[in-house]
Amino acid sequence: MNQITIAPSMLCADFARLGEQTRQVEEAGADWLHFDIMDGWFVEHITFGPLVIDALRGQTDLHCNAHLMVGNPASHIQSFARAGADSVLIQREVVSQPAQLLSRIRDLGLMAGLVFNPATPLAGLESIADKLDIVLIMTVEPGTAGQKFMPAVLPKVRQARQLLDEVNPEARIMVDGGVDDQTTPELVAAGAEILVCGSYLFQHPDGLAAAIQSLRDAAGSTE
Ligand code: DX5
Ligand code: ZN
Repeated sequence: MNQITIAPSMLCADFARLGEQTRQVEEAGADWLHFDIMDGWFVEHITFGPLVIDALRGQTDLHCNAHLMVGNPASHIQSFARAGADSVLIQREVVSQPAQLLSRIRDLGLMAGLVFNPATPLAGLESIADKLDIVLIMTVEPGTAGQKFMPAVLPKVRQARQLLDEVNPEARIMVDGGVDDQTTPELVAAGAEILVCGSYLFQHPDGLAAAIQSLRDAAGSTE
C-alpha cells in the first residue's frame, strides 16, 4: 500500500479559534491541512482567502493545501503562493485549458492539482497528466461539509489511478467529501492516497488524534 496522507479540512474547524485548532490538528498527527476556498460564485458559500492561510502559516509546519472553489482561479494563484500555500488545486469545470494554469502553479514552486466534481468526466486528463501532482476526485458535491459520501464516484477514482499509472505514476489521487473510517477502505483500495476529512475528524467523540488514527487503521485494513 502507498503512503496515506491525512488532510483535515479546516472548513470544519472552529473559526473562532483557528490558530489553536491548527496546532491541535498538527499535534494530533495530521499530515496536511486542507483549506476550502469558496467565492460565493462557483459554490454558494464564501469561506476564507489567502489572508487566513497567511495567518495560520505561522502556526504550523504542515503542508497547506488550497482547494480553490472559485470562478476565476487564475487571478488568485499568486496570492495563495505568497500566503504560503504548498499546493493549489483548481476545479476542472472553470478552466478550459488547465495545462497552462497548472504550469503556472508549478512555476511558483508549488504542487499543482486538478479537481473533478462528481459529474465531471476525466476526459482529457491523460494529455495533461504530466503537468500535475494531484488529482482530486470529489466524493460529494462541492460547497458544504457533512454530506454523504457518493459511492458512485469510486469507479472514477480507479480510472484516474490507472490513467496516472500510465502517464505520471508519481501523481497522487486525493478524495474529498464524506471520508470516514467506513468509506476509507474502499477509497484506498480504489487508489486514493490523500484523504481530506472534515466532519468525521472534528466531530469525533474521542478527539482528533483518535480520529486520525482510526483513519490510518481503516486505510491499512485494505491490505
Ligand atoms: C466540500 C469540501 C470538503 C469538505 C469535507 O466542498 O471541499 O473539503 O469540507 O467535509 P466532510 O469531510 O465533512 O465531507
Ligand atoms: Zn475541499
